[in-house]
Amino acid sequence: MKKNGNAVSSKAFTATAPRVAVAIMAAGKGTRLKSQLPKVLHEVGGKPLLAHVIAAATRVVPPNDVFAVIGHEADRVRSAVAHTGVNFVLQAAQRGTGHALMVAQPALSSYDHVIVLSGDAPQITPQTIARLLNFHLDEQAAMTLLSADLDHPTGYGRVLRKSPRSAEVQAIIEEKSASPAQKRIREINAGFYVFAVPQLFSHIQKLSTANPHGEYYLTDMAEVLRKARERVVAWKTENSAEVLGANTRVELSFIDYQMRMRKCHELMAEGVTIFYPATCVIDNDVEIAPDTVIEPFVQILGRTRVGTACRIRSYSVIRDSEIADGVLIRPGCILEEARIGPSAVLGPYSHLRPGSDIGEGAHVGNFVETKKIKLGKGSKANHLTYLGDAEIGAGVNIGAGTITCNYDGVAKHTTVIGDGVFIGSDSTLVAPVRVGKGAYVGAASCITEDVPEDALAVGRARQVVKERWAREKRAARKPTTEAEKPPS
Ligand code: UD1
Ligand code: CA
Repeated sequence: MKKNGNAVSSKAFTATAPRVAVAIMAAGKGTRLKSQLPKVLHEVGGKPLLAHVIAAATRVVPPNDVFAVIGHEADRVRSAVAHTGVNFVLQAAQRGTGHALMVAQPALSSYDHVIVLSGDAPQITPQTIARLLNFHLDEQAAMTLLSADLDHPTGYGRVLRKSPRSAEVQAIIEEKSASPAQKRIREINAGFYVFAVPQLFSHIQKLSTANPHGEYYLTDMAEVLRKARERVVAWKTENSAEVLGANTRVELSFIDYQMRMRKCHELMAEGVTIFYPATCVIDNDVEIAPDTVIEPFVQILGRTRVGTACRIRSYSVIRDSEIADGVLIRPGCILEEARIGPSAVLGPYSHLRPGSDIGEGAHVGNFVETKKIKLGKGSKANHLTYLGDAEIGAGVNIGAGTITCNYDGVAKHTTVIGDGVFIGSDSTLVAPVRVGKGAYVGAASCITEDVPEDALAVGRARQVVKERWAREKRAARKPTTEAEKPPS
């Protein structure tokens, strides 16, 4: 039976709606991950498992109706997701998924229904949560569980229906308690449920720990409620990917891979070329305009926005940056909180640190590091240079090996370079210092004082040439050891 199968919005939004809470089970240690980090803080798709589940939950009910049950490393989990505005319930000792709901009873008792989500299954969608809730309300069930058919169901609880076509569920059998015949059942319990709150808490104390793990299994509520003549039903999702739990490192990497591929496929559908997408890591919030080309082994992370007709060549890692249209990023660049103007050219091997603002058509080249600078329109810093805390005008040429000495050991100072300036190679600009418009700085200068507009500044020792010096020195020196004698 599949009533209301296409409904996406939940009935919880209507004026006469029942009061609905979401409880997210997130207290477990995650023993199978063999990690110091609690399971729900392991990351897929660039953020913690729990953050994904909270994001889905808060699109169905407001954050103040969401309760995360935390326990193992509770403080760490709480601070990682506190910004989401959800509530927390402490399950100090983790005695099973049933026990997680027992400790949440005081928080949940004023609601009519509770949607229960697993903090370690991050691909659940708000649409599926809302459909599960609608199915539950339509069926007037005491317990509704989400199920899915999996080709490899090992490890999951199996759903025993009353009969193959019935929505009604007999029991959920955990892997460790399943008979060989039950292990062949492919319909699994996804770990997402809706309970009618009064029925849940009238019967939850009937759960026992008489099972291979010695825990209170929430899954046993199916049998407990059925025996109490309450209605227990299952709704099967066609999208089995969204139910996968991350219990092991292999499962984590598989879910991460699925999320990354989904993002790449979305971008491709919108007109972005991605060669070899399996090698690219693109976070969910990244935006890329059509006709941009992403080469293999590129990472684009955080809140990065990339314009149209850009090319991002291999081995670049870009985080929280804004890249305008027509930008070429050659191989091996690292960008963090940088802004790149239209048609700029970066790399190979440029490092743009936070606050780098690169103007239209500007070039930042091989082994150039920038931090907190403005590089004007069409300006070039092509080789082996450090530019930090600098305001550089338009049409400026920064010679190879130039360094802005921005730090005096105590404080940072600014270098200001006017439009059309030419800085000769291997110059050091000791900040605070200004080079006026159109000025020249001779190669290898150490500039410690301001340079006026259109002037030439040369700040280096004069070259001295001593004729025949080398020849005379060689002649004066007699070989002392056998090894030093010229070959005969
Ligand atoms: C559970 C289900 C199984 C289902 C699977 C789907 C039970 C007994 N089994 O198994 O039928 O197929 O999910 O993914 O529920 N947690 C707590 N407190 C605890 C124990 C666990 O909050 O005391 C949390 C964990 O942090 C985790 C979630 O509950 O986020 C599920 O627990 P887990 O141990 O992963 O259950 P599974 O063995 O995967
Ligand atoms: Ca799990």
